[in-house]
Amino acid sequence: MATRFVAPTTTADYRLLAEKRLPRFLFDYIDGGANDERTLDKNTADFGAIQLRQRVMRDVEHIDLSTQLLGEDATMPLMLAPVGMAGMMARRAEAQAASAAREAGIPFTISTLGVCPMEEVIEASGAPIWFQLYMLRDRDAVQRLLDRALRNGVTTLVFTVDLAMPGQRYRDNRNGMIGDRKLAMALSKAHQLLTRPRWILDVGVKGKPHTIGNLSDVVPDPTDLNEYRKYVEQQFDPSVTWADIEWIRSIWPHKLVIKGVLDADDARAARDAGADAVVVSNHGGRQLDSVASSIQMLPAVADAVGADIEVYMDGGIRSGLDVLKAVALGADGVLMGRPWIYATAAEGKAGLFALLNAFKREMEVGLALMGLTRIADLSRDHIYSSL
Ligand code: FNR
Repeated sequence: MATRFVAPTTTADYRLLAEKRLPRFLFDYIDGGANDERTLDKNTADFGAIQLRQRVMRDVEHIDLSTQLLGEDATMPLMLAPVGMAGMMARRAEAQAASAAREAGIPFTISTLGVCPMEEVIEASGAPIWFQLYMLRDRDAVQRLLDRALRNGVTTLVFTVDLAMPGQRYRDNRNGMIGDRKLAMALSKAHQLLTRPRWILDVGVKGKPHTIGNLSDVVPDPTDLNEYRKYVEQQFDPSVTWADIEWIRSIWPHKLVIKGVLDADDARAARDAGADAVVVSNHGGRQLDSVASSIQMLPAVADAVGADIEVYMDGGIRSGLDVLKAVALGADGVLMGRPWIYATAAEGKAGLFALLNAFKREMEVGLALMGLTRIADLSRDHIYSSL
């Protein structure tokens, strides 16, 4: 397929452009999944097992996608998922994306591991953002991060629970992103970089400083990305349990989202630990491979806790029609991960804004052709699912 577009239009178009723009190891880092990538594939493929119900002759002139996500007004039930190292894919990507999200009227979530610090993102967006937290062994550091988020007006904490250990992402070994073969890795990376001059200018030169901005006060040399890698390897805490969520709940006074449950029993536990919402997620197929797709598990979670707390999902959302399917199966909102990175890597804020508008239009046209005018009216009655 040609990779020059008059106007890139779909997630797949932006993915192709991102692939052309990024050094291979960075493209593979965002595009890849764990082990054999079965869950990564299933996350998207399972949307194909759901059909929308076409209805006609129902005055669909005025379409309303608007909703509330944990009490905040949103133009549509969509959020940008936390993505670590996004700022290595496009210059200050987190700031650009937060600004696009703000203009599109949806929440942006900054990762613990974002390149830009939360302060820079908030300033670029001009609005409160959501902050995603990984548990660190150093609980004082966690407390300081939460204090900082509070001071900066973060409205919602997204606590990610599906990374007890990092998944095994084999593409990262193959292409020299991680591993022990230092010389081969350095040579391979140099070769990959030389073939991507636009990335070198945009990110390598103009996108500095290359830090993990939310953690830059805890490593000796904040400009050395390897120091963060070591810090994270030592600090990510696999001993976390629901009791820690109760601790978080006791020190975080605003909304709390638990991200990364795939099981109705875990969703009930999250609710009982004080979550205001859960995200049904397998981390975009980057953690335990061969688990079910998120869309497959969504109905069971919605049935278990949907009456008590909000239920979101992510994994495999690639279009506005996918959003409609998730909402019909019980999601109050969905998060997109890779699509926002592809679009921002390809064309910066403008690319992401265009993609968000494309999603919005797909939802509007989709609803209209289903004979509905309000996304709030969408339910399982409006789809056929063979999942
Ligand atoms: C992620 N994800 C993620 N999640 C999180 O809670 N904190 C993080 O730092 C990251 N980092 C990250 C990096 C990259 C490159 C990707 C692709 C994903 C997971 C992310 O928030 C989300 O759950 C998935 O990306 C959703 O799946 P899709 O939309 O990418 O299919």
